[in-house]
Amino acid sequence: MGSSVFPSSVSMAALLFALIALLVLPHVVLAKHAGITRHYKFDIKLQKVTRLCQTKSIVTVNGQFPGPRIIARDGDRVVVKVINHVQNNITLHWHGVRQLRTGWADGPAYVTQCPIQTGQTYNYNFTIAGQRGTLFWHAHISWLRSTIYGPLVILPKRGVPYPFTKPYKEVPIIFGEWWNANTEAVISQAMQTGGAPNVSDAYTLNGLPGPLYNCSAKDTFKLKVKPGKTYLLRLINAALNDELFFSIANHTVTVVEADAVYVKPFHTNTVLITPGQTTNVLLKTKPHFPNATFLMAARPYATGIASFDNSTAAGILEYEQASNSSLLNKKKIQLFRPVLPLFNDTSFATNFSTKLRSLATTQFPANVPQTVDKHFFFTVGLGLSPCPQNKTCQGPNGTRLEASINNVSFVQPTTALLQAHFFAQSKGVYTTDFPSNPPFKYNYTGTPPKNMMVNNGTKVVVLPFNTSVELVMQDTSILGAESHPLHLHGFNFFVVGQGFGNYDPKKDPASFNLVDPVERNTVGVPSGGWVAIRFFSDNPGGYDCLQEILRPKRSVWFMHCHLEVHTSWGLKMAWVVLDGKLPKQKLLPPPSDLPKC
Ligand code: C2O
Repeated sequence: MGSSVFPSSVSMAALLFALIALLVLPHVVLAKHAGITRHYKFDIKLQKVTRLCQTKSIVTVNGQFPGPRIIARDGDRVVVKVINHVQNNITLHWHGVRQLRTGWADGPAYVTQCPIQTGQTYNYNFTIAGQRGTLFWHAHISWLRSTIYGPLVILPKRGVPYPFTKPYKEVPIIFGEWWNANTEAVISQAMQTGGAPNVSDAYTLNGLPGPLYNCSAKDTFKLKVKPGKTYLLRLINAALNDELFFSIANHTVTVVEADAVYVKPFHTNTVLITPGQTTNVLLKTKPHFPNATFLMAARPYATGIASFDNSTAAGILEYEQASNSSLLNKKKIQLFRPVLPLFNDTSFATNFSTKLRSLATTQFPANVPQTVDKHFFFTVGLGLSPCPQNKTCQGPNGTRLEASINNVSFVQPTTALLQAHFFAQSKGVYTTDFPSNPPFKYNYTGTPPKNMMVNNGTKVVVLPFNTSVELVMQDTSILGAESHPLHLHGFNFFVVGQGFGNYDPKKDPASFNLVDPVERNTVGVPSGGWVAIRFFSDNPGGYDCLQEILRPKRSVWFMHCHLEVHTSWGLKMAWVVLDGKLPKQKLLPPPSDLPKC
């Protein structure tokens, strides 16, 4: 008797506890049913690929170029098992995914993790909460993202419609950059000489350069459409070093989303998209078969003084003919080409970026910080460092090219910042004295100062939990004004203002848009100008219970120019966001398979 009473009272207690848990914590139950888990297996391996009549072996995921598409719904968990079969160290980054509480899965090498070494496996495990739209994933170590990238499509929760016409079809178009040379050799040579790396040989649409390049007509992306339909094009710029203009001949598109956040729709002939940005556009096809095909072309927006790849990638928009129409008029089919802005058309860039606005509706609010706890003013741009003794350098006047934020050129540590932070072993890895302002004042967009030398260091900014941050990023004209697409990991931010010349803290805030600024993860700092962004260091936003559970944001968040050459030169830094007081405001412990350095 006695032996049966004890277990049954235990199970009664367990049942009671479960019932209470159900009543008290309905959001826990909700979270469980909010999404499913999607498993992907990514084998990192070499693959021979031919472009521009040359064959080379490239590092790929599953032998695919571009890499496989990841599809998930808002609320789903994504687990990607990455197995490294190549000689290179690897990490992958889920660009734009906010990684609430899962900083360990963010991916930048030596920031949130040590690389996955040859033969090793790492499971990236994260949940998508309160996001839907187009993002992408890419390698986040050295220049390996030149061939390791792919779309990340997040659909709304089941039954939740888009706030625009339901598209007939959805098509990702991912822009890339192709080198005939091995890109790891290109960047390592540049880092040795201190000079600028070679530029790419082509741009690509879904991995294909198109008919405007040598022997590439067969390598052309074709978009076959039906008349009178609406297509959702998910545009992604995965190029290494170039912002791109994109246009389809004789068609306008409607921009509906940027960086996986809906925007107020607007029409345009041309889209400007920086590396790291994604843009969803609706393409309404012509009501009747137009008896013509149309080029879709992408070419660079380039503002710096360095040379760049000035070629044009193209795909073809092809209308399907009704099956009963005669084949006769096939011969007469005309090909139209789009007219793209000039490579340095900054006024187009300004115009385009000011059209981007948040929806700011009750369903899709713009939770812009209205007050600011911490102000930061960062200069971004190029600089120099002296040539080491007994060496010759190929930068200006025998120096080395560098890039910096507030004159600090970031030195990559040999262990991951997040690991050092979590295990309280930051000593000797990083310091917390990243400057909130430039070390000295000068006319940032005027004649450069005499001394253009940068400082080097692994410095971070420490932010308390739940802080509202305003960051003004000021381009400098040291070695030429240039647009810099700055990307912040772990957060979306609001672009509250921008302008040309030097930011004026007295006058400029008066013109800030705190009502419906665009919310995104990558913003172009205007060439010779500035941009102001705001974000909360805890990502409030009140999406649902799941969001509530996952709200904590402690981690180390990388911020860098998404022009890879500038990242290589040091245009990068990191924010350390501290834990909140509550248990659920703390970073989860590292996964057991987290790679070691
Ligand atoms: Cu798309 Cu830090 O990267």
